Amino acid sequence: MADKVQVALAPGDGIGPEIMQACMAVFEAAGVNERIEFLEVEMGQRVFATGNTRGMSDEAIETIERCGLLYKGPMGTPIGGGGKSINVTLRKTFGAFANLRHFQSLPGVETVYSRAGVPVDFYVVRENIEDTYGGIEHRLTNDVIECKRLITAPGCDQVHRFAFKTAAALGLDHVHCGHKANIMKMTDGLFLQRFHKVAEDFPQIQISDVIIDALCMNLVLRPQEYQMVVLPNLQGDIVSDLAAGLVGGLGFAPSANIGDQISIFEAVHGTAPDIAGKGLANPTSLLLSGLMLLRHVGMHKTAAVIENALLATLEDGIHTADVAGGKREPAGTTAFANGIIERLGRSPRGFDAKPVPESDAISFTPPNRPSVNLLMQTFTQVVSHVVGCDLYIDTTLTPLELAEKLERICESTPFKLTMISNRGTQVWPSGSVYTEIVDYYRVRFELRDKHQIGQLGQGPTISLLSKVAEKFGITDFQPLKLFDGQPGYSLAQGQ
Ligand code: NAI
Repeated sequence: MADKVQVALAPGDGIGPEIMQACMAVFEAAGVNERIEFLEVEMGQRVFATGNTRGMSDEAIETIERCGLLYKGPMGTPIGGGGKSINVTLRKTFGAFANLRHFQSLPGVETVYSRAGVPVDFYVVRENIEDTYGGIEHRLTNDVIECKRLITAPGCDQVHRFAFKTAAALGLDHVHCGHKANIMKMTDGLFLQRFHKVAEDFPQIQISDVIIDALCMNLVLRPQEYQMVVLPNLQGDIVSDLAAGLVGGLGFAPSANIGDQISIFEAVHGTAPDIAGKGLANPTSLLLSGLMLLRHVGMHKTAAVIENALLATLEDGIHTADVAGGKREPAGTTAFANGIIERLGRSPRGFDAKPVPESDAISFTPPNRPSVNLLMQTFTQVVSHVVGCDLYIDTTLTPLELAEKLERICESTPFKLTMISNRGTQVWPSGSVYTEIVDYYRVRFELRDKHQIGQLGQGPTISLLSKVAEKFGITDFQPLKLFDGQPGYSLAQGQ
């Protein structure tokens, strides 16, 4: 057994077990099980139901960590209550930092593009761990809730490097970076800046960047112009589903969550409770995700043989009920899988077949368990100095009333009040009475005497915080720092 690659297998909830069974039947017939041993693990709704809020047993975690590979069906997230999405938990816990999805036109799957003769064939690489998916949320005042959006330099570097390496391995020559750096100048700005930096190591690949809204329009108008797009987490999530729509829906989109040690391969759709147990579900997305797994471990030949059989099946008009434009009566999940099995060794006729390499070449090493968490760092030689602080205050005072009180409080401190904003828009010292406000202000204090930069440290800002807290409810405190002389904070709108 030791010479086989071990893969943790979680069939999932809803349609998960049906489509996983179909994929396993195809794998068995194609000889995958001679090289891979699948180890079933307990995850999903049955585990949540026992009161386990992670939705996975300790044995499941141990098996995934040992194998370094997980092939999973869709899993339901308990709505409300404390249970978080098991899918997001898995990616974050095991450091699967890049989500890779391939969107391609498939024979027999009619879309507006296939009817117009426009081929769609591109990849989306989505950062998988950071951004608003950190899930760091707080209620700050009666009316305001915050979600903290974290973008880190090492996180950006990981996903960009993965994108360029994958593009190079796939023979692609152009990678686009999608972003909103025109508005989120610091967070998306960092994502874009690191894209350009990492690109320097891949001079053979052409690069472009595109603002996310324009990207969405371009993808719909001219999808054939894209080969690979790399995006932050939330934007990547949305663009991935938009892209799935271009090729016929979620049933055809495979997905791999790649980390340095542990990778997870899963269908992008959910548990489809409306058709679960009826034998109608389309296993294509899960099967294509399984082919990404085979290629990940070096089984390029077997993956190509199965993919060609899938293409030939679709080309012959065999399809499940969710496929638009099919010419035959829809097949059930099992009949569709049997169609693929019958066509193993065949290629599509009117559609480019995948080249089949001579042989498989297994090249996968299971994780080497680290003894402590790995600290990632990109910038290590930076000099930073505190120059003030932003305090976030829960109050219904007007901007002028608030400013008068705060100016009195900071009179005898090294700081002066320089700006008040509400929902990010400046309302003091200047602003418009037409700016509608809520019960949550940002107030900015900066050093009176710039000569003190570098001499103060954090202490005086904490003393100021205490003074302000005697009079107001503080919801957040943010020191203002210069990093190598550059401000590490944004201006308010209108400042
Ligand atoms: P869904 O993707 O399960 O279903 C949306 C629609 O697409 C339904 O009409 C369904 O019948 C259809 N559909 C989905 N996959 C199909 C397939 N393979 N063949 C044929 N039709 C298919 O999305 P929904 O309803 O929003 O979510 C249901 C559950 O799935 C929720 O608990 C959600 O949290 C979970 N989910 C899990 C994911 C994962 O495990 N990665 C991803 C997305 C949702």
